[in-house]
Formats: sequence, structure tokens, C-alpha cells
Amino acid sequence: MKKIITYGTFDLLHYGHINLLRRAKELGDYLIVALSTDEFNWTQKHKKCYFHYEQRKLLLESIRYVDLVIPEISWQQKIEDVKKYHIDKFVMGDDWRGKFDFLEKEGIEVIYLPRTPEISTTRIKRDLER
Ligand code: CTP
Repeated sequence: MKKIITYGTFDLLHYGHINLLRRAKELGDYLIVALSTDEFNWTQKHKKCYFHYEQRKLLLESIRYVDLVIPEISWQQKIEDVKKYHIDKFVMGDDWRGKFDFLEKEGIEVIYLPRTPEISTTRIKRDLER
């Protein structure tokens, strides 16, 4: 069984997120999403979420491509997660290209998928403010 992991905030879930999750799942059999906690978002990513962690988790768990949601609480946890969950492939959108290549040293594949054009949480928030 090939296990995939991806990381993100997934606030105001949109079709760009779904496309990413669908393509990630197609690369293996079991998809884990490490979901940034509210605190991690605020202190490390400088993002204020509209939906709280538990709400974002509930939405992700309802998606057919997602098998397990775990919390992302630090930048450093990735190596530990890869070992703990016996990960084969690490997947992110290509806005993160190159940033996580160091994980290849753990013997896993690191894959950056093209982002879906034009949509983002930031854009939804901005457009609704107009
Ligand atoms: N993603 C994607 N296509 C988009 C938006 C996001 O493939 N149009 C991917 C990101 O590359 C990442 C995952 O979805 O791997 C989670 O991204 P996240 O940062 O939570 O979503 P964004 O919409 O990019 O949020 P923000 O605008 O707050 O950065």
C-alpha cells in the first residue's frame, strides 16, 4: 500500500484544494492530510483562518480522497511524520517547489503538483470584500 502525505491550511475549502487532493490520492492508496492548526497558522504562517481547525478537519474528512487528517503544529515535524506513517510520497502544490526536497534523503518521493489557476483562499476573501 502506497501512502501519500500533504500539508496545508485548507481554509474556505475550494476546488483548487479538491483538485490537489484528488491528484495526490491518484499517486497512491492512502492519503494523509497534515492540517495546519489555528495556532500554527497564526504564529508561523501569519494566516488567520475563517474556519477553526475542527471545522476544517471535518470538511477534509468528508472528502472521498482523504483517509486521515493529522495536525500540523510545526515546520519540523515532517521527517517524524514520514517515519511514523511509513510515507512513500510527499505531495504539495508547486507554490512550494523545491522547499521540501530535503525529504528525499528519507527515501521518499517529493512531488510538486501544478496549482489550479486563479483560485485561492486569499482570493476568495479579497473578492468578497469588494
Ligand atoms: N492549492 C492548489 N491550487 C490552488 C490553491 C491551493 O493546488 N489554486 C494547493 C496548495 O498548493 C497546497 C494546498 O492546496 O498544496 C493547500 O493550500 P492552502 O495554502 O491551504 O490554500 P490556498 O488557497 O493557496 O490558501 P492561501 O490563499 O491562504 O495561501
